[in-house]
Amino acid sequence: MPHATSGGPGRIAGDGSVTAHAPAKINVHLAVGPLRSDGFHELTTVYLAVSLLDSVTAWPDDGLSVTVTGEGADGAVPTDSRNLVWQAAELLARHAGVRADAALHIDKSIPAAAGLAGGSADAAATLVALDALWGTRCTRGQLARLAAQLGSDVPFSLVGGVALGTGRGEELSPSLSRRRTDWVLGIAGAGLSTPTVYRELDRLRAVGRLPGGSTAGPPDDVLTYLRDGPDATLSGLLANDLQAPALELRPELRAGLAAMTGAGALGAVVSGSGPTVVGLAEDADAATATAGALSDGGAFRAVRTVHGPVPGARLAG
Ligand code: C5P
Repeated sequence: MPHATSGGPGRIAGDGSVTAHAPAKINVHLAVGPLRSDGFHELTTVYLAVSLLDSVTAWPDDGLSVTVTGEGADGAVPTDSRNLVWQAAELLARHAGVRADAALHIDKSIPAAAGLAGGSADAAATLVALDALWGTRCTRGQLARLAAQLGSDVPFSLVGGVALGTGRGEELSPSLSRRRTDWVLGIAGAGLSTPTVYRELDRLRAVGRLPGGSTAGPPDDVLTYLRDGPDATLSGLLANDLQAPALELRPELRAGLAAMTGAGALGAVVSGSGPTVVGLAEDADAATATAGALSDGGAFRAVRTVHGPVPGARLAG
């Protein structure tokens, strides 16, 4: 990849490259409704964008190519058309009537298949970077519509902050919550496939091992306490209907949840389809202390401290 230099007003660096960052998300609340006829579930979720960022650098080339460094560079993240970044480039090119010519480099800090929307973050960053590189001048609304075609979480990766997600997760009502919350991420060894976790939820509901509908409750109080605190109350409201199926598929996550609260988190929940466990901390110092206690324990492959909310996908510099 070209050597990154600082961008000018158009954010195109001296070497012709453009870099965009996008954040991981956690689901502070995730209520899963019935399976729809299109294969997706009706959701109500409170998304929070957190300070774990991937970056995508794009520069002019003939045709498309994708390279990866960081998390998943060992082969877990595909570098062909299976990668959402590739699909994002083709979609934007089709939408704008330009040739899909770019080399794309993803520098990943967000683990893959972890319930943190890492692939969605990369797709959102790609839309923003290529819109600048190709001069396609899309509005944020146009980019959001393209994002929704790529995946349920991609619109939120574009917007960031705090938002209520409905529909299959792609319909967003941004919230004005600006209050900082601190979190500890416990990252498990191997990823979990999102469709597999949803299918397991349907199975557990069908055989009566779980109630037929959501048990997560309404999201209103979550949004209120996320905005105003106190965190001790928010911690009791963390909820995720995908946690039960994730625990069924990965029983060892129970120990992860217990380890998180045992290490001082106010509350813990599986993020999205897992297997990442998120713990709410009282403040940044408490998060560091919890992460320190967990790194000795071996419950997780890696532990990170993050805070939210942070902005969605945006150009670097
Ligand atoms: O939208 P995305 O590509 O991220 O979804 C991946 C898979 O997760 C879907 O194919 C579907 O199996 C499941 N899913 C779902 N209901 C949603 C979102 C995702 O069943 N609301």
